[in-house]
Amino acid sequence: MYIESLKLFNFRNFNYLNIDFSKSVNFIVGKNGQGKTNLIESLYLLSTSKSFRKGKNKNLIRNEEKEGSIFGKIISDVSNFELGIVFRGNKKEAYYNQNKVKNYLDFIGKIICLSFTPDDLRLVKGEPALRRGFLDHLLVSINPSIFKHLVEYNRAIKSKNILLKNDLDLKYELIEPWNRIIAEKTVLIEKERIKLLKNIQIEANKQHEKFSKTDGNIELTLNGSFINEGILEVDSIDSILREGFEREKRRGYSVFGLHKDDIIINLGEKEAKFFSSQGQTRSLVLSLKLASISIIEKERSIRPIILLDDVNSELDQTRTDNFFEMLDLEKGQVFVTGTDIALSKLLKGSKRVLKISEGTLESTDS
Ligand SMILES: Nc1ncnc2c1ncn2[C@@H]1O[C@H](COP(=O)(O)OP(=O)(O)O)[C@@H](O)[C@H]1O
Ligand SMILES: [Mg+2]
Repeated sequence: MYIESLKLFNFRNFNYLNIDFSKSVNFIVGKNGQGKTNLIESLYLLSTSKSFRKGKNKNLIRNEEKEGSIFGKIISDVSNFELGIVFRGNKKEAYYNQNKVKNYLDFIGKIICLSFTPDDLRLVKGEPALRRGFLDHLLVSINPSIFKHLVEYNRAIKSKNILLKNDLDLKYELIEPWNRIIAEKTVLIEKERIKLLKNIQIEANKQHEKFSKTDGNIELTLNGSFINEGILEVDSIDSILREGFEREKRRGYSVFGLHKDDIIINLGEKEAKFFSSQGQTRSLVLSLKLASISIIEKERSIRPIILLDDVNSELDQTRTDNFFEMLDLEKGQVFVTGTDIALSKLLKGSKRVLKISEGTLESTDS
């Protein structure tokens, strides 16, 4: 599966772009601030409907404009199709073959992209939401139907929070239906998260061996209010939520639930968040990401489209070379961005070089 062509209209610093890609390696080269990350971001959006960057929808629309869009033509073994997203103000609409989708399930995961960006290094040391996001993104990639449950869970938490925040005389009866949904979804999602985390641990250790044999094993543990007590059953969670009602009412928000989960990452029996060096952190993150690729390949028999943003900023030449080799770039479609044209020599096989400058792309085959 690969992205054959892309059209951007008033997206970030792109006014209008219409470009064909290579089904193997695409190397996007340009100075800083020209739109390399923006381009990668647009591809990621076609895969998940969300950006990997923080910020409002309207920031995705080119300054001073009211509407922007991303459209991509996809070629796959089964069928060819088109994905699109249109942004208007803070609203967005997703399209599949020119039909507006009512349910994002008909859009998300139609293509699977896996991104490597310099920001990924924060996965180890940054806030829990990043680690949950990593896990859930992979979960949805291998099992898109989970997305619906995540949405329903989040909706229940949101509705519950509105009640908890605004009503001092709140009666439990009003919270009860939301808590029931939260309990049901918690069991379902948590079981999937645990299963997947075990799988990631196995695959990540295989990858990690190639980086360093001396750092010890990677251990991944889900840290959450219910799972820590060994509780994964709807009625028990429901009663914990009932018992916690007064506390949640005082706080004015949902205290318990999987929206608070974290993943504890241990390396050689020490918690990586506090103890891993910069080099170790990098190897860890790459192992986790490479593990995601092999899990997607195994579970869905699809090679994910790989997005490598700004690789040379993080790695020296030998490391970059090894990294490209580990990624086995020839296996599928890849987008690599960098500031140094010399990087292109490290990319083996047939490739397209795209020079980017102020939101315009110029293609040169090499
Ligand atoms: N909504 C927007 N409208 C216009 N320009 C934008 C918008 N969002 C970001 N930009 C511009 O895009 C440029 C950064 O692009 P980016 O893809 O991050 O560059 P890089 O090539 O360094 O990865 C900046 O000049 C920024 O001002
Ligand atoms: Mg960039």
